[in-house]
Amino acid sequence: MIKPIVAGNWKMNKKINEALELVNNLKKIVGNITEVDIIVCPPYTALHSVSSVLKNTNIEMGAQNCYLKESGAFTGEISPQMLIDVGCTWTILGHSERRQYFNETDTFLNQKLKYVLTTGLKVMFCVGETLEEREENLTESVLRRQILEGLRDLQPSDLCKVVIAYEPVWAIGTGKNATPEQAQEAHAFIRALIKKEFGEDAGKNLPIQYGGSVKPENAKELISQEDVNGFLVGGASLNAESFAQIIKACIP
Ligand code: PGA
Repeated sequence: MIKPIVAGNWKMNKKINEALELVNNLKKIVGNITEVDIIVCPPYTALHSVSSVLKNTNIEMGAQNCYLKESGAFTGEISPQMLIDVGCTWTILGHSERRQYFNETDTFLNQKLKYVLTTGLKVMFCVGETLEEREENLTESVLRRQILEGLRDLQPSDLCKVVIAYEPVWAIGTGKNATPEQAQEAHAFIRALIKKEFGEDAGKNLPIQYGGSVKPENAKELISQEDVNGFLVGGASLNAESFAQIIKACIP
């Protein structure tokens, strides 16, 4: 059985004091949960402070993005090595907001993913279709393209450091989550594709998170689906109590 994995993507929210308040509260509520892997992804400016609170706890820290070089003249960018230095064990890559607003392409994301995996950082790699794509019955072909191009040249052994997050764009921040059936259908498609490309074991062991308007009220039903192994949570992760309820819903 795959251990559930729940991550909070804070996006561009929380100044340092607010970030500290959130993780201190979270630590109090979920500090003894061992049945679920828990990750928070604060904005870069809060990583250092949050890291000091999370030291020696069950809560890991991730970044929301990173670049594909160790150092150099890349104004405004942050390297995986810097993220490891500040205490991150994870980074998100390919979030739909990065794809949409910052023009991150499948090819660029593939280059970033390959580089990041050489550094030891683990990756939550996001995929998902837009509303128009779903309405035109393109969901599977979009997921196939994002995964085949995004994970191109990876070895099956690389996949133990990768989690896929299925995040339909139409469900992100809209309050309109995918139904458990829609999520299961997409997750099963992704798992079958990974099995075909990277082998039975890689597919069987790959955690697939669902993301898009996950709330305490819908978490239980979504996680009960066979191929839903956890969540990438945006809005509801900004509050310790609601994020904790989602984590608790994932305890098998
Ligand atoms: P949401 O965001 O939970 O606010 O819909 C999810 C995400 O973008 O990861």
